[in-house]
Amino acid sequence: MKGRVKKILVISSGGDAPGMNAAIRAVVRTAIHHGLEPMGTEQGFCGLLSKQIFPLNVDSVANIIQRGGTILKTGRCIPFQDATVRKQCGEFLKSQQIDGMVILGGDGSFRGATKFTDETGIPVIGIPCTIDNDITGTDYCIGFDTARNTALDAIDKIRDTALSLDRNFIIEVMGRSTGHIAVDVGIAGGAEFILIPEFPISPETLVEKLKHPRRTKLASIIVAAEANRPGSSIELAHTIKELSEIEYKVCILGHTQRGGSPTTHDRKVASMMGTAAIEALREHRGKSMTAMQNHHIAIVPFPDPKNATRYFQDESLLTLNEILCGT
Ligand code: F6P
Repeated sequence: MKGRVKKILVISSGGDAPGMNAAIRAVVRTAIHHGLEPMGTEQGFCGLLSKQIFPLNVDSVANIIQRGGTILKTGRCIPFQDATVRKQCGEFLKSQQIDGMVILGGDGSFRGATKFTDETGIPVIGIPCTIDNDITGTDYCIGFDTARNTALDAIDKIRDTALSLDRNFIIEVMGRSTGHIAVDVGIAGGAEFILIPEFPISPETLVEKLKHPRRTKLASIIVAAEANRPGSSIELAHTIKELSEIEYKVCILGHTQRGGSPTTHDRKVASMMGTAAIEALREHRGKSMTAMQNHHIAIVPFPDPKNATRYFQDESLLTLNEILCGT
């Protein structure tokens, strides 16, 4: 029988997401509740490279549940892609008697964690955190709800000025390769069109729809996912102007969507997932992540690196939006 897990490390990795702090708090406090010794490091795997780990206690995570970002800082650690570096990090953790790890991050971080646990034997449990909400195996990733509410608030504000001056706007939201944020805020914000990488619309088709004789709108909002090309909505506005003479102003919401105090939903899910991650380590689970499945928290294997991204699939929501926001 495997021995009891005694000392664990918690790290945040990749892009930050609101709710990471609430998850760290839950990991640390649940670990202490069960008599485990929680440690932390800063800037993700990079903290292991510099051998900087430190103890966390109940007070280190006091008053952070409401804060955006991550008190452990985060980073995308390029050297960790090298197997020799991962081996050194594993040896360092073993020398510190760390026998379990919780990693908060997205699919890139989980790819690194999968290799790390395979090569070192140190059990790792992931907590999915990304505003993009696009990790295969979980219906929900921490940070998404806060980000979509931040974006929606901005859209509502832009609508006030758009309607007052009869202007058109393209509002670009985040989503590296998926349209989850764009679809939700597009529907909730009454966007006339929602542009996402999963169901692309050419500028020509868009212009055809904009010039439809039955269309009566004087002001309109298009929500576009940045889809690997942040800022590309400026180019789209130029193309629309060239093809149709219709003018669009552009507002890129960018990193505002990553910050801010997490919503109730993000804090609650983060608390539940943080606790579940420690329970999983105590049950000797590893190479797995906490997941939301049918409104329940589950422990599932890390996603297959070849299929780690959960794309938006429900085309009926785009149809629904066309009905609600058409001419
Ligand atoms: O994955 C989260 C995300 O915010 C994406 O939506 C966005 O494309 C990307 O990270 C931006 O990354 P960075 O902060 O490194 O510019």
